[in-house]
Amino acid sequence: MEAFVVTSGEDRSPLHGTVRVGGAKNSALKLMAAALLAPGTTTITNLPDILDVAVMARLLEELGCTVSLDLDAERVDIDVPETLGHHAPYHLVRRLRASISVLGPLLARCGRAEVSLPGGDNIGSRGLDMHLRGLSDLGAEVGIEHGYVVASVVDRLVGTPLWLDFPSVGATENLVMAATLAHGTTVVDNVAREPEIVDLCTMLVEMGARIEGIGSSTLVVDGVDRLHPVAHATVTDRIVTGTWAFATAMAGGELVVEGGVAGHLDIVLDKLVSAGAEVQVRPDGFVVSAERRLDAFDVVTLPYPGFPTDLQPFAMALAAVSDGTAMITENVFEARFMFAQELARLGADVRTDGHHAVVRGRPLLSGAEVVAHDIRAGAALVLAGLAASGRTTVADSFHIDRGYPGFVETLQRLGVDVERVELPDYDR
Ligand code: UD1
Repeated sequence: MEAFVVTSGEDRSPLHGTVRVGGAKNSALKLMAAALLAPGTTTITNLPDILDVAVMARLLEELGCTVSLDLDAERVDIDVPETLGHHAPYHLVRRLRASISVLGPLLARCGRAEVSLPGGDNIGSRGLDMHLRGLSDLGAEVGIEHGYVVASVVDRLVGTPLWLDFPSVGATENLVMAATLAHGTTVVDNVAREPEIVDLCTMLVEMGARIEGIGSSTLVVDGVDRLHPVAHATVTDRIVTGTWAFATAMAGGELVVEGGVAGHLDIVLDKLVSAGAEVQVRPDGFVVSAERRLDAFDVVTLPYPGFPTDLQPFAMALAAVSDGTAMITENVFEARFMFAQELARLGADVRTDGHHAVVRGRPLLSGAEVVAHDIRAGAALVLAGLAASGRTTVADSFHIDRGYPGFVETLQRLGVDVERVELPDYDR
């Protein structure tokens, strides 16, 4: 089993250089699922070179598509047949929670879908009630049988007013995709507004869908009889972009983040700047620098445009080495605070109570062996290692590879002493 090992001195490991941010994982996987809505060949470019994309490609093959995936060229061609399979098996879905996003498209195209209940990141219960209730309101019969979501509709889904209890990203995506081929108009209130949702809706409109209100909290979808295949480029990954901003804030130095859309990270960059970092926006990205230890700041995670839950572990790691005390409130995924225990192993002064954490900053952490529980927690531990003296070994680093193409190699180029190592069996 692989681990990432970072070695730092008393002066942290400041970053210098340029990183290029590619397509968003959380968009690319949904765009691939959306391809199912139209027979013919859909091409998606600016794909991130990560394992999850390959797993989604396997799932689409399982459903009857011919998939030509070229991760070096950051491109996939998905040839979707007129008649699709409708069974998404456990052995693939458990490796990728985002595979639940084939549910809406399959139901809309085939009138039937059997999708295994997903596994995915270890960050909370991650219910599906809003997905299932919405599809049922659109006229489907929906149930759970033998570990599978089984949904069917006699003729065609029928548009109706829907609302979400919480602006769930996954439920918004599934319901909008299903509604594109429904009979009549679906109005979905309290939807998620993340840039990845805007990207998906944009591609659906390119495919011939009729959607209004894109980017707002109410989407109006007029169902059409048929969609057509398209070529579409994935939006830039704002979480990877934010990760590099936090990396610089934590370790010091100056980084050019090429392709990063500063406008997708307004709250995040604003907080970093008020804490003492500098950000200069450029036409193709931004430059972030930190010359001193930053001031502590509070964080409250919320759906977009609030502070993203996916960047919360980085905020906690930064707070651990900032000047002062920070209160971190996690409102989206309760189990994300498992990360706090790992951070504490690096010497962080962090206490959690329910969904609040209080972090008292100290000048430097101290390297230790820790374990990654999910993609973001894993990457945040590696970055905490940049501000920890000695060796920080992050086990279960495969999680990090699921979200960050070439993370170790990029850090090496920026001057960090970091390597991939194979852990002996007794470390498992
Ligand atoms: C997506 C992202 C994830 C990000 C999250 C929030 C992907 C592949 N993952 O996850 O990285 O952290 O958005 O920005 O795109 N919930 C329910 N019932 C439902 C649906 C959700 O209770 O039917 C709950 C979840 O348990 C969670 C919260 O709502 O506590 C947010 O979930 P959601 O927005 O749906 O996140 P995902 O789509 O799973």
